[in-house]
Amino acid sequence: MPPTSPRPSPDASSDPTTASSDRGNVGIEGYDAVEFWVGNARQAAHFYRSAFGFRLVGYAGPETGVHDRASYVLEQGSIRFVVSGALASDHPIAGHQRRHGDGIRDVAFRVDNAEDTFTTALDRGATPHRKPTVLEDEHGKLVVAAIAVYGDTVHSFVQRQDYSGVYAPGYEPVADDPLASDVGLARIDHAVANVPEGEMDAWSRFYQSVLEFSQLRHFDDEAISTDVTALMSKVLTDERGRIKLPINEPAPGEKRSQIEEYLEAYEGPGIQHLALETDDIVSSVSALRSRGVGFLPVPDEYYADTRQRVGDVDESWADLQQLGILVDRDDEGYLLQIFTEPVQDRPTIFFEIIQRQGSQGFGVGNFRALFEAIEGAQRRRGNL
Ligand code: FE2
Repeated sequence: MPPTSPRPSPDASSDPTTASSDRGNVGIEGYDAVEFWVGNARQAAHFYRSAFGFRLVGYAGPETGVHDRASYVLEQGSIRFVVSGALASDHPIAGHQRRHGDGIRDVAFRVDNAEDTFTTALDRGATPHRKPTVLEDEHGKLVVAAIAVYGDTVHSFVQRQDYSGVYAPGYEPVADDPLASDVGLARIDHAVANVPEGEMDAWSRFYQSVLEFSQLRHFDDEAISTDVTALMSKVLTDERGRIKLPINEPAPGEKRSQIEEYLEAYEGPGIQHLALETDDIVSSVSALRSRGVGFLPVPDEYYADTRQRVGDVDESWADLQQLGILVDRDDEGYLLQIFTEPVQDRPTIFFEIIQRQGSQGFGVGNFRALFEAIEGAQRRRGNL
């Protein structure tokens, strides 16, 4: 465990049933932004623009009066990424990057009242990271607070209803991004964490008791295993169902699972992947592939089996197979999904592109095929 990692320790008085009756809900409205801390923010931002179709809308750095870091605000659909790099070796971003490589520091939530959410979370046992802070400029007032969760990851609570600037004080808008050409990514669907063996349940309880999330799904190691590795996962969701946070932990297997590989490479727990939702996955993945985004290969035999299992879909099976898109069906409908290769040198963060056609699941029918593909990549890295 990294020394900075808080333990999931909501106190005994934090029973969500009593807490919610006297405090009301925590007021989470949805995702606000995902902030990446990287070694070279200028180049990482260029990658997310040119390869993933994000538009540069805001910038903070020496030219805007911010002298210790450079931050680029990128948008596509309702998704907002902030990509930040340090300008000196003693900056916290530099330490984070040295330890973890490029990584996700903050999964920030939009809230009604940042101070109320923060105070409620602390009353229920959360570890403070940033006290409620009012940031003001000519565009109005922004209130930000944050709690620490697994590893060096934080959740900011952002109250921005009285703020009309591009992102936050210190940021200036970028009028026209010559690289901007979106690929149809519309919204964040889920953000997945990897934690060490034995910690998944505690973090699941933490989100339930501190932030009033509920457990949407539980996948045990029977559901998520191949012949040689296994993992377990619980999916937490907020009261409005806008945020979904699966939490994975490794399960005993014959070989080292992808979760263990991640935990070693990231040097601790953290965000494993972000799922970005599109309304037209065939066109999104075609565009991403043409821009050089690499995806996990899918074995040919997958499609024969899956067509049998899933039945009719609106998309062309030829397109899905040619692009390597996976399909799964449950009682509510079906979903289409595909997974990128890791997007930095360490085998840590990757992206999922997902389209939901009724199904609110996570593609459990694809887990085995998917994990066998990941094991192929692990093997090529000499990590299996
Ligand atoms: Fe996922």
